[in-house]
Amino acid sequence: MNVNAERSVSLWMATVREWQAQPLTANERADVVVVGSGIAGLSTAYELCRQGQSVIVADRGAIGRGMTARTSAHLASVLDDFYHKLIGIRGRDEARHYLHSQIAALDRVEQIQQTEEIECDFRRIDGYLFAASDDDVSLLEREIDACHSLGFSDVAWDTMPAAADGREYRCLRFLNQARFHPLKYLEGLMRCIQREGGRIYADTPVMSVEEKDGETIVRTQNDHQIRARATLIATNSPINDWIAIHTKQAPYRTYVIAGRVPSGSVVDALYWDTLDPYHYVRLQPVGDEHDWLIVGGEDHKTGKADDQPERIARLTEWARAHFPQMSDPEHAWSGQVMEPVDHLAYIGRNPGNENIFVVTGDSGEGLSNGVAGSLILRDLILGRENSWAGVYQPNRISIGAAGEYISENLTMPANLAEHLTGGELSSVDELKPGDGGLIRRGTTKLAAFRDDGGELHLRSATCTHAGCVVHWNGFERCWDCPCHGSHFSVDGEPLNAPAFKPLAGAQE
Ligand SMILES: Cc1cc2nc3c(=O)[nH]c(=O)nc-3n(C[C@H](O)[C@H](O)[C@H](O)COP(=O)(O)OP(=O)(O)OC[C@H]3O[C@@H](n4cnc5c(N)ncnc54)[C@H](O)[C@@H]3O)c2cc1C
Ligand code: FES
Repeated sequence: MNVNAERSVSLWMATVREWQAQPLTANERADVVVVGSGIAGLSTAYELCRQGQSVIVADRGAIGRGMTARTSAHLASVLDDFYHKLIGIRGRDEARHYLHSQIAALDRVEQIQQTEEIECDFRRIDGYLFAASDDDVSLLEREIDACHSLGFSDVAWDTMPAAADGREYRCLRFLNQARFHPLKYLEGLMRCIQREGGRIYADTPVMSVEEKDGETIVRTQNDHQIRARATLIATNSPINDWIAIHTKQAPYRTYVIAGRVPSGSVVDALYWDTLDPYHYVRLQPVGDEHDWLIVGGEDHKTGKADDQPERIARLTEWARAHFPQMSDPEHAWSGQVMEPVDHLAYIGRNPGNENIFVVTGDSGEGLSNGVAGSLILRDLILGRENSWAGVYQPNRISIGAAGEYISENLTMPANLAEHLTGGELSSVDELKPGDGGLIRRGTTKLAAFRDDGGELHLRSATCTHAGCVVHWNGFERCWDCPCHGSHFSVDGEPLNAPAFKPLAGAQE
């Protein structure tokens, strides 16, 4: 099981069938094990297979049905946290390395889909970052100066081509961005990996990974072992690390709607505004009659809001104001991104390990980060130099991001204090069908959910990763952990890393 079991269904999930893969049923060996079959895991597995490595991919649930199935799939070298801020925190040289790695990631997707003949609706298009208000034009001025100072010359002033609310939005136009259908692309990668002899196992939760006598040993829930020279943890939020990385990033829920627009009525481009949280928009053309307009935003810290219908309504209202030709949304879904405190992903050797590697901290650029990561990890795992590796080093501490580090790390102590407070419910009888809530029982808190048939589902509310209190998510009908991004089903099964053990059982 993974986040595929959460309630909402993305446009991508609705338009491709699920791929069949068997679970692991015996001990095995490989050169490299990749844990997790999202864009990061499958891209790295592909690169390693192409280098003649024997590779095993193991996923706790359906293949390719993690956050990559819930993305909006803008392929961008634009940085959503802004290059001028990144330069302030990490300096110009590191910002330039980051930019080059992102451009290379887009080029690599283009090349792979072309040479491997993966029909995934890939197209190079422009990106428009537009000022939501006149006050934000100065932000764009700082951003274009920063981009040009990095040698990013494909950025120019323009007016947003799509707005229909009568306003002329000042914007920056970024050439050579791209879009694709993420699941069609992953399906193509999966086919290539299998063609090269790679083994892909679904429904195979990994419970631990250790280094011993120069090799790595991965243990799965059904007690099988995979021994390999190296292991990559590509579970989006790492299952193997307790402090080094989890204190440097924070989980955020984000929401997306998709409605029809007449074919050709909106310019095929990527769009972002300058609000915080910002809106992100793109098209998915489907034929002569209509295109899908995909609009995302309304982010909040995971577990800190349970007003999703209002968020979807606000997204719809915003989309209508800017694109009045959009019909009522036919798809609405949510997902989670991990926001690193200094804006860049963590890719490389896991802190304290020699042969265990990690890729996380995806942020709003998780697709290009996953692909850039695959190029870096390929080199590190094969013992080669990679000029971008230093920028993404997982063990880095960014002094320039100290304020962000402190503020994000207040979540955990505040959450742990919730173990001492009262519950949201005084009795489970208050729960209507479809509702969930926390209730105090003696010294512990319980996570209670009543299903549509009236049956009560009761579990401990203590997250099995590091002990925080999980919060109800009524939109996805699951329990979200605000600390490091685990999600659990109403029966306590882990759906999203870092947790891999179920919520403890509880009696009524
Ligand atoms: C709504 C939304 C919009 C986004 N928009 C964009 C965008 O426009 N552009 C962009 O670049 N990025 C975007 N992102 C971010 C991007 O989609 C993600 O960062 C990226 O897809 C994550 O890929 P991944 O491979 O790291 O993780 P995932 O796709 O989540 O894959 C991780 C896999 O690990 C598996 N796993 C977890 N635990 C275990 C375990 N114990 N054992 C075995 N397997 C395990 C999971 O089942 C899952 O399949 C968006 C994200 C969301 C949610
Ligand atoms: S995800 Fe770390 S405590 Fe829940």
